[in-house]
Amino acid sequence: MCNMSNRTFTMIKPDAMKNGHAGAIIDKIIKKGFKVVALKQIRLDAEKAGEFYAIHRERPFFGELVSFMSSGPVIAAILEKENAVNDFRALIGATDPAKADEGTIRKLFATSLGENAIHGSDSDENARIEGDFFFSVLERI
Ligand code: RTP
Ligand code: MG
Repeated sequence: MCNMSNRTFTMIKPDAMKNGHAGAIIDKIIKKGFKVVALKQIRLDAEKAGEFYAIHRERPFFGELVSFMSSGPVIAAILEKENAVNDFRALIGATDPAKADEGTIRKLFATSLGENAIHGSDSDENARIEGDFFFSVLERI
């Protein structure tokens, strides 16, 4: 069995999908040494998007976030690598692309603070919860 702390969860968000960046983003992820454990394209409805980001329910941007995340398809994936959660957050860069380091996925491909190209889990526990939200046991390698 794989150690869950070596796994993270990601979603390529609707802006990056619409702008044709999905292939380049997946290429960067693989070249950085992440192995794809599970991957699929899916469209969230507002209810599912709200459930996924429930932690932000009280924030002023919640409505915008839900409407953005349900505005088009996303690619969801479970990724594996040593130190996956932290290394992946480093690869995607700061939430606000204007503040993200050069070469990070958000710096290269994000549209704005709200529409920032990609999601990355912020802890091992959330990586497991988020992976379970999208994938059944049979869908994982
Ligand atoms: P994510 O969960 O998507 O990986 O992003 P994150 O950890 O870097 O940022 P988080 O604080 O969890 O915020 C979740 C997502 O909400 C949108 N957001 N909009 N308009 C705003 O002020 C604002 N702030 C955050 C972004 O899409 C952010 O990624
Ligand atoms: Mg977050």
